[in-house]
Amino acid sequence: MTILVTGGAGFIGANFIYYEQEKHPEDRIVCLDKLTYAGNLSTLEAAMKHPNFRFVRADICDVEAVNALFAEEKPDIVVNFAAESHVDRSIEDPGIFLRTNIIGTQVLMDASLKHGVKRYHQVSTDEVYGDLPLDRPDLFFTESTPLKTSSPYSSSKAGADLLVNAYHRTYGLPTTLSRCSNNYGPYQFPEKLIPLMIANALADKPLPVYGEGLNVRDWLYVEDHCKAIDLIIRHGKVGEVYNIGGHNEMKNIDIVRLICAALGKSEDLIVHVSDRKGHDMRYAIDPTKIHSELGWLPETKFADGIQKTIRWYLDNRAWWENIISGEYRNYYDKMYGERLGRQ
Ligand code: NAD
Ligand code: DAU
Repeated sequence: MTILVTGGAGFIGANFIYYEQEKHPEDRIVCLDKLTYAGNLSTLEAAMKHPNFRFVRADICDVEAVNALFAEEKPDIVVNFAAESHVDRSIEDPGIFLRTNIIGTQVLMDASLKHGVKRYHQVSTDEVYGDLPLDRPDLFFTESTPLKTSSPYSSSKAGADLLVNAYHRTYGLPTTLSRCSNNYGPYQFPEKLIPLMIANALADKPLPVYGEGLNVRDWLYVEDHCKAIDLIIRHGKVGEVYNIGGHNEMKNIDIVRLICAALGKSEDLIVHVSDRKGHDMRYAIDPTKIHSELGWLPETKFADGIQKTIRWYLDNRAWWENIISGEYRNYYDKMYGERLGRQ
């Protein structure tokens, strides 16, 4: 079987490729990635050694390149991770989010229809449901929670989700769709909360917490997300949506404090900076459906996963120091310069 993984040079896509190579070494994996600022070929160095692996640099919006690859590789399954994924960037510049996340999805689904793909899987996010109030811990996102987005990022992901449902109903494309909560683990780009705080703490730099840091996210170790997608593409029901999350809600400030403690750094590094515009308060997934239909349960407890993640960033400094010293520096100065008073 051939699985086309788009966005596989990014955080979750790369972890998924490693999961598949380990679990199903007989399957061929073709990775299509544009290598934007978030894509890193060095992440796939070990994957490249696998005889059943091919990397192709291309844009999912490029109709010609996508169709040529589908014609050549004839994928059985397509898993679309490729996206612009950072909320703060979407607030600064929404255009690229609409192009990649919506048009790119359309191009991939058109090619999937044309070339008779047996399963098109869209990797979506819990952010399409908007947010929940902090004073209602009894509320959770289920698959029937209405879409109600807050940021250009989540709106572009919701647009793609609606298109996926339309391609299933109108053209009969065999789709599945998953909406996962916040991931953490190896290879996450250091613009996201956990790796950013680890990298800054190690350099004794300020730890910029938006607002009071009381916003809640539902953290899942990336391998558990990969395992869920693997189950959905092989055993999930066509046309269905699956929520993925491990009931692990934590306040941002508590995560940052935990990272300080784990690295032996003072909490005096924490700086409360101006809040994200439209900042969602709380995400919380109800994973009952994927548990009861596919038997999925998260395996890594947060206490273990965060220690493993911190260890990984300590052991793989070259991977992220390379990123921090390059083009990403301009982004960091732009986003945090004023917030931190250019400290
Ligand atoms: P990421 O930003 O780390 O990686 C995105 C990858 O997509 C990069 O390799 C990039 O080069 C590639 N890409 C971007 N535009 C492309 C284009 N036009 N053509 C081809 N490739 C392109 O993202 P991530 O955190 O790994 O997220 C992967 C997917 O999972 C996204 O769809 C995201 O919405 C979703 N998701 C992420 C999380 C999370 O916590 N990170 C949670 C739920 C869902
Ligand atoms: O919920 C799933 C989503 O999780 C995915 O769809 C997105 O692709 C992924 O980026 C993530 O979105 P968030 O906005 O929740 O993640 P981020 O790491 O950017 O921020 C997590 C929380 O931490 C959020 O409340 C904002 C806050 N934050 C973030 C940064 C980067 C800070 O307080 N300071 C920071 O410097």
